[in-house]
Amino acid sequence: MEKKEQLYEGKAKKVFATDDPNLVIVDYKDDATAFNGLKKGSIAGKGVINNVMSNHMFQLLEKQGVPTHFVEQLSERETLVKKVSIVPLEVIIRNISAGSFAKRFGVEEGIVFDEPTIEFSYKNDDLGDPLMNAYHAVALKAATREEIETIKSMAFKVNEVMKQYFDSLNVILVDFKLEFGKTADGKIVLADEISPDTCRLWDKTTKEKLDKDRFRRDLGGVEEAYQEIMKRVMGK
Ligand code: C5P
Repeated sequence: MEKKEQLYEGKAKKVFATDDPNLVIVDYKDDATAFNGLKKGSIAGKGVINNVMSNHMFQLLEKQGVPTHFVEQLSERETLVKKVSIVPLEVIIRNISAGSFAKRFGVEEGIVFDEPTIEFSYKNDDLGDPLMNAYHAVALKAATREEIETIKSMAFKVNEVMKQYFDSLNVILVDFKLEFGKTADGKIVLADEISPDTCRLWDKTTKEKLDKDRFRRDLGGVEEAYQEIMKRVMGK
């Protein structure tokens, strides 16, 4: 597979064309941003961890019947994925109160919900990814009603698989963000990444944060937290 021109550079990844029009290569960087790019930094080794962990999660989810963009890992930082058009929605599932939920509703972090919540935000950096509901998404043609139903059921399925998986690693899956893409033939697949950048992961015993909140909140031990998650996920 030949790596061709760069198509896109995001905050954490670059995307390159290949000689196959239906496939692209994702290249994970160590760059880290938070608060819509206001806080910038770097987390040594993050690109490798996020690449390897995302691929592990995508393969686990595929086995459980969730279609994803994953094709093949090419190197420590590079993965071949299906070319998709990203649905401009950030889909957030929460099992426990934290982050913007705790802030918005004035509650403490750590309240365990009776059932998971789902929310969407509109993927738009200039607007700061505003919260949106399904009607807004349809009005803005971000997705059709049917696509939103598909995305919702896929997202809850991902939560069930991941919650159980992380529990087996002595990790609590607090919340996470997913992105979905549409392939050339119109099929919705899980895309982007699943990593400590996009999930809140707390150690089940100590409740220690093992995710990007260590970077966002200047808690220290950022690299160590990413390495700890990698160790538990990959067994090394
Ligand atoms: O900040 P907030 O509480 O809304 O984040 C919910 C979850 O979504 C967290 O796990 C966070 O890491 C993830 N997220 C993300 N990218 C964003 C916003 C949130 O990965 N742009």
